[in-house]
Amino acid sequence: MEVGVNFVGTAPRARSAKASILPLELKGVSFSVAGERLIGEIFCRLESGTRTVILGPNGAGKSLLLRLCHGLLQPSSGEVFWRGADGLDPTRCQAMVFQRPVMLRRSAAANVDYALALRKIPRSERGDIVREVLDQTGLARFAGQAARTLSFGEQQKLALARAWALKPQVLFLDEPTASLDPAATRAVEQIVAAIHAAGTKIIMTTHDLGQARRLADEILFLHKGRLIERGPAERFFTAPETAAARAFISGELLW
Ligand SMILES: Nc1ncnc2c1ncn2[C@@H]1O[C@H](COP(=O)(O)OP(=O)(O)OP(=O)(O)O)[C@@H](O)[C@H]1O
Ligand SMILES: [Mg+2]
Repeated sequence: MEVGVNFVGTAPRARSAKASILPLELKGVSFSVAGERLIGEIFCRLESGTRTVILGPNGAGKSLLLRLCHGLLQPSSGEVFWRGADGLDPTRCQAMVFQRPVMLRRSAAANVDYALALRKIPRSERGDIVREVLDQTGLARFAGQAARTLSFGEQQKLALARAWALKPQVLFLDEPTASLDPAATRAVEQIVAAIHAAGTKIIMTTHDLGQARRLADEILFLHKGRLIERGPAERFFTAPETAAARAFISGELLW
């Protein structure tokens, strides 16, 4: 496991020399519960370098798809395939931030430290990483504060800091700003942009069109569990190919 954190403003480590777990391929992935197909079948390949936004209305299956990709759910059929590289464990090269992050009953700094300890980062290296990542997410002044007393927006930033500290190759984000006000949303989006700029592949869900326009390089448009459109963000927003995507973009309710 590589240690240390890449930050905007410091020289990112040369990633070209590093083995990558990407691309991620979904090969006919489906997910069913009690005989009802909730996802699939989905075929797609996600490359490194781009911010992939999974867009779709409430109930479209965005969270399920993200959990399938991250390995929290097992597909009912098909395969989630990481290219992987010799000696690389894909599960150790990815992190996820949930819509409602759970903080441990300890300080903000200790929450980040604990995540690093779980990844077996030596104690002697953890302090610097924790300080740096709290600094870069604007949370330095909260380092000693009990994490659960932070505001919801601050907790969401801390969840991002905790994930970023692990320096994942891939970061999954499930509606990271769903309950935040515009200022907190903007702050979280800036952190996501910084994590991307430092070389981490972003795969995130949202039903917020404005956010998708601001953050996405490519869109996966999900409707009723099926991937019905995929393409560069600009093309998706200017020339959607399906009636469902056109209806979603124009604000009509789909579900
Ligand atoms: N364990 C489960 N058993 C049965 N149905 C489920 C289960 N998990 C999810 N679903 C259903 O699958 C559908 C997709 O759920 P999912 O949470 O992925 O939607 P979403 O696109 O993330 O929606 P939102 O924008 O509201 O977060 C929903 O109709 C949901 O009720
Ligand atoms: Mg969801």
